[in-house]
Amino acid sequence: MKVTTIGTGYVGLVTGACLAEMGNHVLCLDVNPEKIRVLQGGQIPIHEPGLMEIVSRNVAAGRLQFTTDVDQAVHHGTLLFIAVGTPPGGDGSADLRHVVAAARSIGQCMTDYKVIVDKSTVPVGTADEVRRGIGEELAKRGLKDLPYAVVSNPEFLKEGAAIEDFMKPDRIILGSDDEQATLLMRALYAPFNRTQDRMHIMDVRSAEFTKYAANAMLATRISFMNELALLAEKVGADIELVRRGIGSDPRIGYQFLYAGAGYGGSCFPKDVKALVKTAADSGVPLQVLTAVEAANERQKRVLVDKVVERFGQDLKGRRFALWGLAFKPNTDDMREAPSLVVIDELTARGATVAAYDPVATAEAARVLGPRDDVALVARAEIALQAADALLIVTEWKEFRTPDFDAVKALLKAPVIFDGRNLYDPQLMQALGLEYHGIGRGR
Ligand code: NAD
Ligand code: UGA
Repeated sequence: MKVTTIGTGYVGLVTGACLAEMGNHVLCLDVNPEKIRVLQGGQIPIHEPGLMEIVSRNVAAGRLQFTTDVDQAVHHGTLLFIAVGTPPGGDGSADLRHVVAAARSIGQCMTDYKVIVDKSTVPVGTADEVRRGIGEELAKRGLKDLPYAVVSNPEFLKEGAAIEDFMKPDRIILGSDDEQATLLMRALYAPFNRTQDRMHIMDVRSAEFTKYAANAMLATRISFMNELALLAEKVGADIELVRRGIGSDPRIGYQFLYAGAGYGGSCFPKDVKALVKTAADSGVPLQVLTAVEAANERQKRVLVDKVVERFGQDLKGRRFALWGLAFKPNTDDMREAPSLVVIDELTARGATVAAYDPVATAEAARVLGPRDDVALVARAEIALQAADALLIVTEWKEFRTPDFDAVKALLKAPVIFDGRNLYDPQLMQALGLEYHGIGRGR
């Protein structure tokens, strides 16, 4: 089939590459010429395990191409995936400006039947807006009877595991009220859907809602565990043991129960805010979800609260080593990364920070800009040199079993604040390391 992605970021590029891998002919459009230049030059603009290989293979096979030419892109695909960003607007609601612009550009160029697929995470009712935008543009061109369908097909991939998630989805949500569009989407997803039917076909609004409900549920689990962790510290329990104890109940399950330095990324924070806003606007305030967001804001500061408790409010003259800048491992994405809050809170109190991340250093440098109080270093050990303590914010694999003797030798004092609970507190004690985890009250 012929497919176009409108927006070639994380979701657009992964979608385009994985669909090309299954034999489709995909043209990826983006308004950012630099991004397209990088892709046309044989590189990818993001760090995502396995993506480069798939992109290279399909470009070489002539099934995957990149363009900034809107007209060419709209003519290419029968299926047009809108995968543009939906960042938070000033009032918390999703800013749909890019989605609407994409819809209008489709209406300005299309000349035959198209299925427009809303892949971006968008509030309930957005498909109607997309339909309206396209319809208005077609009417201006005297083509108001040109047939087209708008369907909702939200994406559930996780960064760092995007290829695996797209290739072997737990579920494929399709919101459609158009029979022909449903048939085409079923055919497109058939290769990803072979072992058992994972496609859930529903009305468009329920599909749009399903995406927010999923992210809100996952964020709720995390904030709930983070609050329990605070309590565990006070009452002398270990949240890690509690996590295993409750996760063994299949009704609860083990996933997304890790207490830590707060959730970040381009999705949970903005999607929770957007759903809270939709609910408030609809006169049905979501009290649980409002608390989830507030708890996360506090959680991003918990690691620094522990530093302040240990070293005092005034951190002038102190230097801290920070391991992990990306919002999670296996990505260089810094959007809403808890590390940014930790850095801000430490430096606001006069401290300097030496930070190390296996892949996100360049992106962190771009986000942080030039500054004297933060050094981005090339190796984990360099960050430790003459630091008052080590703070761990992202659980990269290489941090799991460091040379603890070297950690002790390099730090001024052997103090670790572990925002991802990587180590066993008893082992730390045995090794002579002062260890502050999250919720390790035992
Ligand atoms: P992104 O910022 O990485 O990419 C969006 C791209 O769209 C950018 O390259 C931008 O230049 C381009 N763009 C903007 N307007 C355009 C237009 N009119 N025409 C063509 N291109 C345009 O965003 P992302 O992380 O891929 O997220 C996209 C959507 O998917 C969001 O709604 C997000 O919530 C959702 N989502 C993201 C993930 C994820 O892990 N990143 C997972 C599931 C869903
Ligand atoms: C999340 C969802 O997991 C995806 O299903 C969804 O498609 C995506 O958002 C989206 O809508 O964009 P992602 O943000 O890439 O994916 O990463 P996650 O693995 O979900 O992690 C999000 C944040 O939660 C990270 O900061 C992570 O450290 C934190 N987290 C995760 C915890 O603090 N505890 C956990 O147990 C799990």
